[in-house]
This record gives sequence, C-alpha cells and structure tokens, in this order.
Amino acid sequence: MYIGPYQLSNNLIVAPMAGVTDRPFRTLCKYFGAGHAVSEMMTSDKTLRMSKKSLYRANFDGELAPISAQIAGSDPHDLAEAARYQVANGAQIVDINMGCPAKKVCNRLAGSALLQDEDLVARILDAVVAAVDVPVTLKTRLGYLNGQENIIRVAKRAEQAGIAALALHGRTREDMYLNTARYSLIKDVKEMLKIPVIANGDIDSPEKAKYVLDYTGADAIMIGRAAQGRPWIFREIAHYLKTGQHLDAPSITEVKDVLLGHLTELYEFYGEYSGCRISRKHIAWYTKGLRSSNEFRQSMYQVENTADQYRVVEDYFNALLEHGLTMNDVQVEQVNLLETK
Ligand SMILES: Cc1cc2nc3c(=O)[nH]c(=O)nc-3n(C[C@H](O)[C@H](O)[C@H](O)COP(=O)(O)O)c2cc1C
Repeated sequence: MYIGPYQLSNNLIVAPMAGVTDRPFRTLCKYFGAGHAVSEMMTSDKTLRMSKKSLYRANFDGELAPISAQIAGSDPHDLAEAARYQVANGAQIVDINMGCPAKKVCNRLAGSALLQDEDLVARILDAVVAAVDVPVTLKTRLGYLNGQENIIRVAKRAEQAGIAALALHGRTREDMYLNTARYSLIKDVKEMLKIPVIANGDIDSPEKAKYVLDYTGADAIMIGRAAQGRPWIFREIAHYLKTGQHLDAPSITEVKDVLLGHLTELYEFYGEYSGCRISRKHIAWYTKGLRSSNEFRQSMYQVENTADQYRVVEDYFNALLEHGLTMNDVQVEQVNLLETK
C-alpha cells in the first residue's frame, strides 16, 4: 500500500497511542514487522511545543521512514502551522487526529469531538493539506453519536480535500471503548473512496486481522492495544496472512530479551527518572497473565531506579526459565488484549 509516494513494506500499522507509541515502541513494532507507525498525538498549541512531553513526542531521530507525525487541535490555522512545524522537524507524513475520545482533547473540541462540526472538519482538512507538501492522512471514528454516524460525508470530504489515506476506528465518540468495533461502515467507506482506507478497532489476533481485511476490503489494518507488551503480534499476523499458519508463541527467553532490550531503549530515550516510571506500564503489559506476575508487579512498582528495575525484571524471567518452563506453562491467566488500562 502507498501513502502518497511512500510504499509501505506491508499493510500492518501500529496505531498512534499517546503514552505508548513513543519512538522506542514504534521502532520495536517496525522491527517485528509493522509496515508503518504513527507518532503519539502532538497538540497544535504552540505554547506547549517546547514542553518536555512535546519534545519527546516529536523525536523521530533515526526512525525508519516514512515518519508520520500526528497532530491534534481544533483551529485550522494552528493545525496548519503545527503541520509545517512537524515537516520541518522531519515528518514525511502528517496525520490529523479526529479520533481521540479523551476528555482533555474533547473539551477543547478536538479529536473525535470535531465530528460534530463538519464545516470545521472541512476547514481543517483544507488548511492542513494546503500547508504542507507531504501527504496528509486522517484518523477518525464513525461519528460523534450513535445513530448519527456521519463518516460517509466526512470521508468523502476528506478525499476531496486531498487526504492521502484514511484510518477509521469502527466506533463513535459515544462508544468510547465500549461495545465492539463495527466494521460495516468501514466497508462502506472503503467501497466509496479511491484513497487507501485503514481499518482499526479490536484487532487482537491473526484470525481477526484476516477477517477485518477480508470483510472490509480495507487496504491495511491498524493495531493498538493488542500490541502493548506484544510487539511481535505484527510478526504473527504477517506470517498468518502469508501462510495461513500460526507461528509458535515467542519463547520465555525471547520475551525476556525483547523486554530487556525495550527497557534499555526507554532508559536511554527518557533518562533515569522518567525512564523508570514510563517503563512500569510496559513491564506490566509484557508480564500480564504470567505465573506469579501479580506479586512480581507489586514489588516491581516499588522500585525507583532503572538499574534495579532492570534487575528485578531479569530475575523474574530467570526464575521462570530455571524450571525449564515454556510460555504455555507460565501463561496462567487468559489475557484480554483489548483492555484500555
Ligand atoms: C492508551 C491509548 C492512547 C491513544 N492515543 C491516541 C492518539 O494519540 N491518537 C489517536 O489518533 N488515537 C489514539 N488512541 C486510539 C488508538 O489509536 C486506536 O484507534 C484505538 O485504541 C482502537 O484500536 P485498538 O482496538 O487496536 O486498540 C489511543 C488509544 C489508547 C488505548
């Protein structure tokens, strides 16, 4: 699939997730076979551009191309300006966030709240596309309220504005993360548009990935929560789509090595203090459902420095390995990969 001039290596994309898909995580997902990744959302508010958070989010150093920067806001002029800023900062694709249901974003009428005002949506799309010479993509939901889904009009307008690809989460703002993603409107949008359509929502297994691709006819799929603590899901899905066969689950040794490598990258990226704190949720995701992992996490959360954190993680996995166990033996609880916490 292409986004503008960029041919992606496959049709599996890591969804943008604020607080998760930082540069280390995007790099890891790409290593495991994701064909594309989108940054965490960055506010179009200029006054926050130099905040520590924005600077981390706008760090694309050494990242595999094409680099896609997501911007969020509600003012067409500010968003156009933010798009220019991100292109000057190295972005090769600009993605507009009209999907986020978070309160903080929605109070300022941004993210998916924008879908209530189609005229504003159109002005934003036109302004951002005109502001930059790189492809502009849009990520959105089916609409604001259930029963009033307006994605067909929004998608048509987006294509008219020159949007290069549309990523569609099969829920409304009202749904938040409740109910299940609905794919029928994604299918309708795909049938109507000429630009690539990316289906998103609740894809958590190779079978689901194949089902959503087949059912919607989408050009690509986007995976968010199911990749948390499981970046190898892209390898598993790619293999299944190609062969119809399941890859073996990663061994305990591989999970240990991937997690320790991920931690090393996070420590280097964020430094000692934030590195330790940001790593906690990743460690929790990687170890969810594994033997004795509740007790392990309780003690891991108390650790306040990176060297000790690294060591307790290493010790936890070494203890599993000592008994000659496999991943199947230590997976003692069914894990819901689609939890929002
Ligand atoms: C923790 C978290 C943070 C998110 N942050 C963003 C974001 O910054 N920009 C965005 O467009 N969507 C964001 N999303 C929505 C996801 O990109 C995706 O649309 C949603 O999680 C549904 O996909 P999934 O079922 O594969 O998780 C976020 C989701 C989660 C769980």
